[in-house]
Amino acid sequence: MESKFQPLFESLTLPNKVELKNRFVLAPLTHVSSNDDGTISEEELVYMEQRSKDVGLAISAASNVTDLGKAFPGQPSVAHDSDLEGLKRLAKVMKKNGAKAVVQIHHGGAQALPNLTPNGDVAAPSPISMKSFGEQEAHDAREITVEEIHESIKAFGEATRRVIEAGFDGVEIHGANHYLIHQFVSPYYNRREDEWGQDRLKFALSVVDEVTSTVKTHADESFIVGYRFSPEEAESPGISMEITEELVKHLIDKPLDYLHVSLMDIYSTTREGKYKDQQRVELLHEWIDGRMPLIGIGSIFTAQQALDAIENTDADLIALGREILLDHNFVSKIVEGKEDEIISQFDGTRADKHELPIKLWTQFNNAFYPLPRTDGK
Ligand SMILES: Cc1cc2nc3c(=O)[nH]c(=O)nc-3n(C[C@H](O)[C@H](O)[C@H](O)COP(=O)(O)O)c2cc1C
Repeated sequence: MESKFQPLFESLTLPNKVELKNRFVLAPLTHVSSNDDGTISEEELVYMEQRSKDVGLAISAASNVTDLGKAFPGQPSVAHDSDLEGLKRLAKVMKKNGAKAVVQIHHGGAQALPNLTPNGDVAAPSPISMKSFGEQEAHDAREITVEEIHESIKAFGEATRRVIEAGFDGVEIHGANHYLIHQFVSPYYNRREDEWGQDRLKFALSVVDEVTSTVKTHADESFIVGYRFSPEEAESPGISMEITEELVKHLIDKPLDYLHVSLMDIYSTTREGKYKDQQRVELLHEWIDGRMPLIGIGSIFTAQQALDAIENTDADLIALGREILLDHNFVSKIVEGKEDEIISQFDGTRADKHELPIKLWTQFNNAFYPLPRTDGK
């Protein structure tokens, strides 16, 4: 390996004393390839083993904690004890080569898909009509009841218990990307007048408390709990950097092991308000104040870009999303001094189909996600 890449291979110790072998993180990536009932598929096991093998921390695809929260076809489920058998196999393959394996626990809220939920029911902090994953037409979400709010919080705890039982190293609470937890924090989605609307952080922090108290009861200190969030949203009034500052200041007082910002560009700057034009990762680092590591992410497709990100931003760990889908040997090629051979573009003519599950490959081929690609689509 070229010595300049060394900073990417320094180990990092989380607040709970667990050591990550390097600075690379497999981002949570929905692959639409679990079985229809949410159990883990054979194809998914092969794919997850490949993507996890060289990173310090591997995060699984968003996994629904209740049937009401199912937001993708082929989404892995952590909602039932009957999911455990497959989850145990998933934990094993993700951990096989030394990565710490974490399940991203998720509830779609307004973005749940009516064709996947019981009785086509979709519930959100406030009623809304919206299009989500792959939909041609908008669907309606009703207001979630207070009883269901309590049930959803409990479901995050129950999911955590299953993740522990399955032998994973941790959970990541999915508070990002416009799903239920994010919706509660957002003034765009949450227009409730009760305590869950007056205090828009209450749901997120209650989920954190439920998850961390489940961990205390069912696991030892080495179990990792992370939290992912989107720092700003385009809707106005939506989540602003000022709201995120308040959220982060609460989160750092919780027994969490890392925070993970969801960004498409790791160097992106604040859209509006008091912190306009300041780099988001830099602000987050300042607010976290050394209490826990920050995972940065966004448009890293080459070894040099990964190095620049670890050296020139305030992120402690660097997550790879689309790139590790294009080339699951990204990290090992750096180790072997073959960084020039990294595949950084989608090529629909490749015979190996980038070794992706066929449904995920088809989405890429149909330009469902923006990606650097050889055909210019
Ligand atoms: C195919 C695909 C699936 C994704 N699924 C998830 C997911 O399950 N959970 C999540 O928090 N983010 C998800 N994301 C967002 C990524 O984790 C990541 O934040 C985003 O792709 C930016 O990183 P990148 O530039 O390295 O791709 C997904 C992104 C893509 C492209």
